[in-house]
Amino acid sequence: MATDALMQLQTFTEIAPLRQQIQAWRSAGERIAFVPTMGNLHDGHLSLVHVAKQHATRVVASIFVNPSQFGPKEDFASYPRTLAADQALLASGGCDALFAPTVATMYPTSSSPPLHTANAPSFAIDVGAIGTILCGAVRPGHFSGVATVVAKLFNIVQADVAVFGEKDFQQLLVLRKLVHQFNFPLDIVGAATIREASGLARSSRNQYLSSEEREQARVIYATLLQMRDMRQRGVDAEQVQAQALITLQTAGFNPDYAVTRDAQTLDLISISSKIEVAMIAARLGKARLIDNIYWNS
Ligand code: PAF
Repeated sequence: MATDALMQLQTFTEIAPLRQQIQAWRSAGERIAFVPTMGNLHDGHLSLVHVAKQHATRVVASIFVNPSQFGPKEDFASYPRTLAADQALLASGGCDALFAPTVATMYPTSSSPPLHTANAPSFAIDVGAIGTILCGAVRPGHFSGVATVVAKLFNIVQADVAVFGEKDFQQLLVLRKLVHQFNFPLDIVGAATIREASGLARSSRNQYLSSEEREQARVIYATLLQMRDMRQRGVDAEQVQAQALITLQTAGFNPDYAVTRDAQTLDLISISSKIEVAMIAARLGKARLIDNIYWNS
């Protein structure tokens, strides 16, 4: 990668200088897009930067492994931190600025990382019922942690548009609600999931898979396609879900869920559902993988 590109990526660890730069761009009439991440970036994140560039003249990314969205038994400590490689990738994608704060900068009153159930931040956003179903049922407090940190990041960056991956489908819905409920003056754009040739969705957690597990993991996307096919043939949602769980278990997964839902609400499908989504969360070895596909009902 050209050193010139790397030099064009400005990295900020403090809020004030980042805001100063963003204000300067804004005063010059520029439009700002924001791509929040937890780092350990791959092609999927790069595609978020590409989408961001279609909506703005400047792209700001953030890298922050947010403790408040990890449960006490989850992988916060071992989550891969790869700042130098991430900076190179962001620069190659034409990102203009990176915000990479410390935990103390993001949670100034906390003396230790606010893992959500053990040491939650003293101010946190309650996302309501959507935060208690599906991934929220398996990871209590997770979406409150996500909404809280994203609200803080939105206030810091003050972008015109923010881009999130559709792979984290429930997260995307929670964040759309956050923006609506808290009147953030920005648009949320969902970016399509990037897949490997096998269909496996790109994810930082894929690196927890052995090479055999990576091969097995293609079953998730194949199962989603099977679910869509069954639904489009008129098979009842309950039957589709039961079949999907059997397929996943037979392939060696420990599924948290395999469901089809209304894609706009995540409620059970009804006659008023316009878009339907099939969603899977399943554990394989050390990895917990999530994926989804959606279609017009
Ligand atoms: O999707 C992620 O990487 C994280 O949940 C996010 C949105 C950056 C918040 O920490």
